[in-house]
Amino acid sequence: MNINYKNIVLSKSIRQTIKYILTGSKGLVLQRRALAIDKIEVKRLGIYLHIPFCRVPCLYCPYFKEKFDKNKALAYKDAVIKEIEFYRPLLKEKKITSFYIGGGTPTTMIGYGLEEIISTIRDSFDLRCDISTETHPNDITPSAVKHLKDIGVKNVSMGIESFNDHFLKKIGRPYTSSTAKKSIKVLRTGDFKCINIDIMFGLPDQKIADVEEDIKIALSLNVDQISAYPIFTFPHTRLKQVVKENGSRLPGIIERRRMLRVIERLCYGAEMDRTSVWAFTKRGVDKYSSVTIPHYIGLGAGAGSLIPDSFFINVFNVLEYVKYLREEQKPPIALTIDFSEKEEMIHWLYWRIYETKIDKGEFKEQFDKDFDKIFGKLLVFFKLFGLSHNYKDKIIMTDKGNYWVHVLQNLFSLDFIGRVWSICLAETWPREIELI
Ligand SMILES: C[S@@+](CC[C@H](N)C(=O)[O-])C[C@H]1O[C@@H](n2cnc3c(N)ncnc32)[C@H](O)[C@@H]1O
Ligand code: SF4
Repeated sequence: MNINYKNIVLSKSIRQTIKYILTGSKGLVLQRRALAIDKIEVKRLGIYLHIPFCRVPCLYCPYFKEKFDKNKALAYKDAVIKEIEFYRPLLKEKKITSFYIGGGTPTTMIGYGLEEIISTIRDSFDLRCDISTETHPNDITPSAVKHLKDIGVKNVSMGIESFNDHFLKKIGRPYTSSTAKKSIKVLRTGDFKCINIDIMFGLPDQKIADVEEDIKIALSLNVDQISAYPIFTFPHTRLKQVVKENGSRLPGIIERRRMLRVIERLCYGAEMDRTSVWAFTKRGVDKYSSVTIPHYIGLGAGAGSLIPDSFFINVFNVLEYVKYLREEQKPPIALTIDFSEKEEMIHWLYWRIYETKIDKGEFKEQFDKDFDKIFGKLLVFFKLFGLSHNYKDKIIMTDKGNYWVHVLQNLFSLDFIGRVWSICLAETWPREIELI
């Protein structure tokens, strides 16, 4: 108890100091207040659609999801269409250059409104991009693949997590290794541009040899991309408690570093390039990514939106989302935060570091400012400690740098996400959340 308290205080003060050095401001506060969105002035815009349903919710998963129910899904479809109608006049002149369907498990809604939502989005906005979606091994059948093709999905990501039945069981995934392998084969019949699979490592009692085996199997199945995530213990999930009850142990930070090295060695050996902190993509394939664009509108319960000056999130409750849209005909925004330009730049930099490459020209195009003048000192620090190197007008993160991003990610974003999501799940309409 005492140690936990000290850790919280320590990480809070480190976060405060880093944030103050970077942005010059001390607090980040999300508030419940009316937000007037009368215009969105950006050159490029993305759309994120959140489908918050899963057949079997996982004990470690932090994302906003509820158990799938077909009546709830159909009511949700109607509500999302109403939210689209709200944005239609605002976005009709905009080029939509990224469209991502995340969850939860979006494919639970195949046959229960997903097709109608996608066709409404196509009819309402000027889509100039591929559609990418997440899916689950138990949802992938030849008929589901046909549905995905029919609605125009080009890139698919599936949560495999492990090919080892023992670990699948331990983390409560409701399928076997043989189903996981079969679902990849079925997905491959769809001739998608990119198939990504998620593998989690650092699972309870997992050894380096187990991770090695998982990655070797993934590579033998010839997927286009592997996203290998260390399992994170978000405070609002049951993972930590269940691990303790089972007398298991989560590998420590040094073991996880070793596991990541094995993953790097195997993926680089298989001619894959690192395309984000956690993702390795086959050379010649365009990476699968949810984050491709600085500004986006999030549709659906729990979806976040980032437009110039503001970040806002919709209510984390399906029935509340549906009810609000029936009554109000506008997005049920639960919390809003103003973003100064400096904070927007930090947000931009965070995602570029996450993607392992920072393009100074892109920064100039986005903010009309010189990258070195704003972040030059930080980059000197990165270079000095071997976290990055320069290549022409780009800054490329090294493997060591990527590892430290993971550590910082734990300190910042996971803590933020954990805090915001746990409060939104518990309170539905919270009045205010102070982040630091
Ligand atoms: C939305 S899910 C993927 C799609 C689908 N719902 C599924 O589970 O197959 C996104 C991915 O996040 C990762 N994930 C979920 N909880 C995590 C955690 N606590 N730590 C690390 N990765 C996690 C998993 O790899 C999962 O596949
Ligand atoms: S990992 Fe996927 S299936 Fe499991 S609860 Fe999260 S979103 Fe749902």
